[in-house]
Amino acid sequence: LTQERYPVRRLPFAAASEEDLAAFERILPGRVVTSPEELAAVNVDWLRTVRGCSKVLLKPRTTEEVSQILRYCHERNLAVTPQGGNTSMVGGSVPVFDEVVLSTSLMNQVVGFHKVSGVLVCQAGCILEDLSQYVEERDFVMPLDLGAKGSCHIGGNVATNAGGLRVLRYGSLHGTVLGLEVVLADGTVLNCLTSLRKDNTGYDLKQLFIGSEGTLGVITAVSILCPPKPKAVNVAFLGCPGFTEVLQAFSSCNRLLGEILSAFEFMDAECMRLVGQHLHLACPVQESPFYVLVETSGSSREHDGAKLDAFLEQALSSGLVTDGTVATDQRKMKMLWALRERITEALSRDGYVYKYDISLPVERLYDLVTDLRARLGPSAKSVVGYGHLGDGNLHLNVTGEAFSTQLLGALEPYVYEWTARQCGSVSAEHGLGFRKRDVIGYSKPPAAVQLMRGLKALLDPKGILNPYKTLPSQ
Ligand code: FAD
Ligand code: MLT
Ligand code: ZN
Repeated sequence: LTQERYPVRRLPFAAASEEDLAAFERILPGRVVTSPEELAAVNVDWLRTVRGCSKVLLKPRTTEEVSQILRYCHERNLAVTPQGGNTSMVGGSVPVFDEVVLSTSLMNQVVGFHKVSGVLVCQAGCILEDLSQYVEERDFVMPLDLGAKGSCHIGGNVATNAGGLRVLRYGSLHGTVLGLEVVLADGTVLNCLTSLRKDNTGYDLKQLFIGSEGTLGVITAVSILCPPKPKAVNVAFLGCPGFTEVLQAFSSCNRLLGEILSAFEFMDAECMRLVGQHLHLACPVQESPFYVLVETSGSSREHDGAKLDAFLEQALSSGLVTDGTVATDQRKMKMLWALRERITEALSRDGYVYKYDISLPVERLYDLVTDLRARLGPSAKSVVGYGHLGDGNLHLNVTGEAFSTQLLGALEPYVYEWTARQCGSVSAEHGLGFRKRDVIGYSKPPAAVQLMRGLKALLDPKGILNPYKTLPSQ
């Protein structure tokens, strides 16, 4: 599938032999998987758009085991694809050919939690939702949240610098990750797993690995700063008559809600149609061209409620919002969040998904969606826009009955050129992985790409770590 659709040639790595499997078995007794059923799942991505043909899946439990595996693979010139929850949206987590898959699924232990500072230290394979539960039981929350929380691993989140639903409030992982333990391509263990808020002793090496998509090292443990659990959370789901009103509602939220605003997400009417049609989720407000989800998180129910009421009153009376519903109880909040979080799932049921994840000046965020609807006409099944409006991040998705080179040709490079003209980013939060690596040039100058190649060569001279990913083909 992959090789047919994308022109890519296997690099001259070794192929895993019977001796290699025996060596792996000595390092990981009983955790070397070669069964076709289990391999089928790790060879294909979540969107089912790329498929590799790895013959071996390794499941280490400790950093020492990861180190031994990489030392061996480095010596033998075997390529390795690190894999967490395999929820990548850009084909980053699956092998392209027969790379060895190194899964963090058994590296799922919490190492420690500091009750005063809120610093959590854990292994890379902990599932995000499990960590959320763990810290919430201790009156803290994870600084990140995303729709894939039930499957994605914290190591995968760090490796992609995942954004998600809380960036507006807590910032990106470049700020909340305090330390990392990473195994380099040759097996060297780099222990930068500090829990310090401040540490200016030399270059901040951990930043290199945040967002490096498994191409520079394997993250084995993470130290991350968790904020205290907010005492009062409100979610408002609102209908807006136009995108201008969505933007005005955002400005108004910023001014009237200030420090308690914790999320501002948007979706268009097409998204609502898809979650209704494919997931049977009901629209909780009057049908509208746009919907926004506003979340507040603060420390006083009364104070936050009064602020939200003031915003809603103003938004309704000035026509920014035509209808809305507010939730303060867990069940209803979850129900409202599901409308936004499950769009990805609804799209994947609609057909083949062409997925674009773009940063743009917020005023122009929706123009590309309108423009594409006109450009594509009936050749596309659905053209939808949603995303993290508060971060200037548009998720533009187009579906078709099946993959079509014609539709792809109408979308690319058009979407990328359009984005570059606005000085936007062609990957706001999903990374480049396999499918987007050759479009890096729309958002980064040649000198930056050259420096990235230099860093890759320094840290992974044989290029065994996640080859064919992130950096453009030569
Ligand atoms: P994988 O998909 O397994 O791997 C992702 C990349 O990281 C690969 O390149 C892989 O090689 C590398 N990698 C994984 N683990 C390690 C490790 N330990 N060391 C080194 N490299 C590693 N993304 C967002 O940014 N924001 C969202 O809101 C969001 N929502 C999503 C919703 C859904 C329903 C789905 C399916 C995906 C969503 N994503 C989102 C994309 C995806 O969930 C994130 O990119 C996530 O961070 C990937 O984590 P993972 O454990 O599944 O990693
Ligand atoms: C989201 O915000 O829902 C995710 O990034 C996934 C997607 O883009 O579909
Ligand atoms: Zn997103």
